[in-house]
Amino acid sequence: MTDVRKKLASSLTAETTELIPYLPYLLQDIYELGSSPTDMLDLLRQHTPASTAWNVLDLACGKGAVSVFLASSLGCHVKGIDLMPAFIAVAAAKAAAANVLDLCHFVVGDINEAIEAESDHDVVILGAAGDVLGTPVETIAKLRTTVKAGGFILIDDAYVEPHSALDYHTRGDWLTFFQQTHVVLLGEAASGPDVDQINRENQAWIVQRAAELTRAYPEKADLFAGYVETQQRECDELAGDLSGITWLLQVVEAEAY
Ligand SMILES: C[S@@+](CC[C@H](N)C(=O)[O-])C[C@H]1O[C@@H](n2cnc3c(N)ncnc32)[C@H](O)[C@@H]1O
Repeated sequence: MTDVRKKLASSLTAETTELIPYLPYLLQDIYELGSSPTDMLDLLRQHTPASTAWNVLDLACGKGAVSVFLASSLGCHVKGIDLMPAFIAVAAAKAAAANVLDLCHFVVGDINEAIEAESDHDVVILGAAGDVLGTPVETIAKLRTTVKAGGFILIDDAYVEPHSALDYHTRGDWLTFFQQTHVVLLGEAASGPDVDQINRENQAWIVQRAAELTRAYPEKADLFAGYVETQQRECDELAGDLSGITWLLQVVEAEAY
């Protein structure tokens, strides 16, 4: 559980689990916590026979921004799972507001456990959840087991240019991971130029909420200042060497590959 909590904190750019209880407050103004719902929808529309009959699994769904958007746009069923009860509550409220509550099923849970039980979906999504399921190869191998043969995987992650000072995977590394896990890259969407602006706006909200928490809990001032700092560092990296990307993959049988 300690490892799960550490990765939970880290998936939301928090360097310590001590921040977990404060994350819903710090992030209350931000609905889209990572992935671009429109990039995901566009990729599905361009490269798959997207259908109202689909069952989509959104792992680490956050506040359900992608789930609710896909249910509204495609009319498909979506199951969203996230470890933060406060986020799942927002997801259900957003689904109700968008009139797609009947298409959406949101559950509080650890996706490391869910991955063992889930199967037969048409699409599985892992959006901006980092290494919660392990290395990229471990992650894709696990995601594969949740979809039908020929099913689709959407991953929102990032890559760095070769020789970058940042220690992260390059685009070439990702292509190797896809080969190793027998998935075919159908399409990709790079984060658009508007991302810097969105990140700046989100950062301004976080700075404001951190200041409010600091006034309420002055003894934790360093904790909240640390969060503002790590968030800013991530924004700077995304404006620099780190490129956000959404990959659309299709599962193929190992023999057919
Ligand atoms: C950056 S947010 C992305 C949320 C959403 N996928 C999106 O793109 O809007 C990362 C999410 O991963 C969730 N998370 C981290 N570890 C998890 C776990 N073990 N099980 C379920 N959710 C987890 C966090 O609660 C958080 O909502």
